[in-house]
Amino acid sequence: MNLTVVDHPLARHYLTTLRNSETGNDAFRAAARRLTNVLVMEATKEVPTVIAPVTTPMGETEGHTLADVVAVAVLRAGLGMLDAVVDSMPNVKVGFAGLQRDEETAEPVEYYVNLPQVDEASVLILEPMLATGGSLSWAVDKAKEAGATDITALCVVTAPEGVARMYRDHPDVRIVAAAADKELNDTFYIVPGLGDMGDRLFGTIDRPPL
Ligand code: URA
Repeated sequence: MNLTVVDHPLARHYLTTLRNSETGNDAFRAAARRLTNVLVMEATKEVPTVIAPVTTPMGETEGHTLADVVAVAVLRAGLGMLDAVVDSMPNVKVGFAGLQRDEETAEPVEYYVNLPQVDEASVLILEPMLATGGSLSWAVDKAKEAGATDITALCVVTAPEGVARMYRDHPDVRIVAAAADKELNDTFYIVPGLGDMGDRLFGTIDRPPL
């Protein structure tokens, strides 16, 4: 099983803030950032370190620095996890991957991919809502095409359909999440979930129709 659901009191607390439909944009963003901090601790448990001697005020000792880490934010909701990742790993390199649905054909269309060098790095893909798994599987394809071999997905909530798709398409990819929810509804939202992560992060829920 490649899915790790982080069962930590802080994760449960922040997840509940995210799930609550009364939570406003500002508190939602803060909870997403704080929850991501907890997920990062789990997701980076196996990231290699390089031995680096260090001089303390008392003498020499062996220290460690983090080897290469790349974060790839899947647009746009993955941006809600990015600050926490950059904050905890200041040397992290950052890529972006964007997919959108063609209004006429309903087919997913890639509109932006920009990845740093990934072949030697531990790659963290930030995709908060693992619903059908289509965009995460696509983002992993992109990272693998660029040479990535060590990939972990950071999710806030997963649905069984998305997890099954990832096992099928990318059984080597680890998934670290705060919750494994029950199901997808007819419009592919996760239930109970937390609604549309991008809308709740960026305040686009109540916008007039385009
Ligand atoms: N994307 C979201 O933002 N929410 C869901 O429930 C599913 C996909």
